[in-house]
Amino acid sequence: MRGLVNPFKPTAGAEPPVLVGRDKVLEDFADGLAEGPGARGRLMRITGPRGSGKTVLLTELGDMARDEGWEIIDETARAGLCERIARAALEKPSAELSLDVHLGLADFHMEKGGAEGATLREALSQKAGELTRQRRGLLITLDEVQDADIGEMKELAAVVQHLIREKANIAFVFAGLTMGVLDLINGKALTFLRRALPEELAEIPLDEIAAAYRETIERSGLLIDDEALSVAAEATVGYAYLIQLVGYQVWRAGKAHADQSLVITEEDALIGIREAMGEFGDAVHEAAVADLPLRALEYLLAMTQDEGVSATAVIAERLQVSPTSLTSYRRLLIQRQVIEQTARGYVKFSIPYMGEYLVANRETLLARYGR
Ligand SMILES: Nc1ncnc2c1ncn2[C@@H]1O[C@H](COP(=O)(O)OP(=O)(O)O)[C@@H](O)[C@H]1O
Ligand SMILES: [Mg+2]
Repeated sequence: MRGLVNPFKPTAGAEPPVLVGRDKVLEDFADGLAEGPGARGRLMRITGPRGSGKTVLLTELGDMARDEGWEIIDETARAGLCERIARAALEKPSAELSLDVHLGLADFHMEKGGAEGATLREALSQKAGELTRQRRGLLITLDEVQDADIGEMKELAAVVQHLIREKANIAFVFAGLTMGVLDLINGKALTFLRRALPEELAEIPLDEIAAAYRETIERSGLLIDDEALSVAAEATVGYAYLIQLVGYQVWRAGKAHADQSLVITEEDALIGIREAMGEFGDAVHEAAVADLPLRALEYLLAMTQDEGVSATAVIAERLQVSPTSLTSYRRLLIQRQVIEQTARGYVKFSIPYMGEYLVANRETLLARYGR
């Protein structure tokens, strides 16, 4: 049927039709904007595994700040982040910044090209000062912080700290994989960032997902029955990316018979879920295990024999090696948030359906290493 458009957005970083289960983060940030310079919500860290919704949340917080008249600099923590942020601050003229001043700053930037620290500090002081005088503010969001260079993080943190002390209207929100971010901020000289308000993106309650599904589907012109709704919501296990993937495919299965019935049934839901799981494997599981050393992959495969939690000692037995020889591989897997520690000596998968994916693709994955 024409006129029916799939409302779900199963693409990394794409804004979902309903941002489910993030009210606390949004409130914390709204409070931060309202409370003025130095407020807790103006320094925030968002952590969670691949597909938990970090990037989308940064965009949403940016929209909130923009509605309050703030300017936003969105950056990813690849090498050169300080320079890119400085350039962005200089390039975006705020409404009252005259062209002369702007060009003057650009010259300054060129002259001081070698002294990166001075440039970032000057650029952000100028920008944040300008905006603060206009009763506006500057939000910097930084994504993929687990990949950041510690020196650059240090430099950026020092400037943000300085501006907060100067009572500038500035907010800094950074996001990344949980362990990667924790390792970084627990490292030397990043004490300031340790104060950031922690927002760990945990599982989203299924009733909120079901409500969002119903709203989204009905707004799109289809309907869904109660069984289909609960089966679909359960399949997401509260994982942000799966909300969109499952929603997309279930909706599509329903649309296929829209000329006879607009109601999505349980049968449609099951067809859609099967389709969604395949795509989840390609988009999320595959990316999580790509480029792992063979030993790390074998570690994961050995974990699939357990339900839920695996004992690291047992994994070593299965691989017929000493537990200590696996330490660095376990650390790598935790770092990439493929697995996480549940207690000392015990681990589990961080991404849902990871075990199922590994079992189903065991041969193909091992074949990459000539096994
Ligand atoms: N709170 C949410 N509610 C519904 N869908 C979401 C939510 N957060 C993210 N998504 C969806 O999940 C997918 C992954 O989001 P993304 O922000 O790219 O995750 P991450 O940056 O953590 O890898 C996208 O399709 C996005 O639309
Ligand atoms: Mg992301």
